[in-house]
Amino acid sequence: MDIAAILDDIGAAMARAPDRGRVASYIPELAGVDPGRFGMAVALPDGRMFSTGDAAAAFSIQSISKVFTLALALGRMGDQFWTRVGREPSGQAFNSILQLEHEGGIPRNPFINAGAIATTDAALAGHAPREFLGELLRFIRTAAGDESIHINEKVAASEQATGDLNRSLAYFMAAHGNMVNPVEQTLGAYFHQCAVEMSCIQLAKAALFLTGTEGAPRLVSPARRRRINAMMMLCGHYDASGDFAYRVGLPGKSGVGGGIMVVAPAKAGIAVWSPGLNAQGNSKLGTDAVEMFARATGWSVF
Ligand code: DON
Repeated sequence: MDIAAILDDIGAAMARAPDRGRVASYIPELAGVDPGRFGMAVALPDGRMFSTGDAAAAFSIQSISKVFTLALALGRMGDQFWTRVGREPSGQAFNSILQLEHEGGIPRNPFINAGAIATTDAALAGHAPREFLGELLRFIRTAAGDESIHINEKVAASEQATGDLNRSLAYFMAAHGNMVNPVEQTLGAYFHQCAVEMSCIQLAKAALFLTGTEGAPRLVSPARRRRINAMMMLCGHYDASGDFAYRVGLPGKSGVGGGIMVVAPAKAGIAVWSPGLNAQGNSKLGTDAVEMFARATGWSVF
């Protein structure tokens, strides 16, 4: 299979795309990103890397960070974690508060914002946000084999300044007894984890720990890896998770920065970035690109 040629075709097709979606505007630091950017990378467990376009450009990984935090929270709490957060798709926008009221402050899954904030709270486990963020960066850097990965403080400050909806979710959960740490500490940690910056090349490598391949960093057990992949498949794209599963057939996690991290189990780590989003807040061209890639390679979990 000629992965380089497939990526070249995808890069050319995406350069021609007339509708690139809309860049997220609710976080000022993200609103200024050029919608013309597009990058994609495929990391194989034997160390080979294929890429196209802006694959080396750093972007804000945003909600993709929720996958790494989930791995840390499960590491701390084991299956007890699931008493605080559910495992069902929400069928709602990523920042919706509706279900929390009906469901006693237990968020549907670890990837919607409420669930991710509860997950960060679980991963903090009484430690200072700085320690958690250090651990998170260590995890991501080990997964990607790259010590240069960092948090963009300007983006974190922008999240803090515009985070009232996230604050509402967090205080609502606190009122239901589903927050352990002081709410503002958990939120500070959450805003910073969203502001981690990575390139497609780094993110594709970082996805390898979820592929279960020889040579990939062993950061979680095989059982946990399968379960994290299951959550990505069912909930990784919010109320468009079914559409992503249908079109791509691989576990993936999106972020409002326009990135998507995709896992091809037993095969490769994949990352794509195009800042324009669709109506559900997922990268428009990013989704199109991984759909093209899955079709060309025949890679699918089904
Ligand atoms: O919580 C927020 O609003 C963002 N920092 C992260 C949300 C996000 O990436 C949702 N993804 N599509």
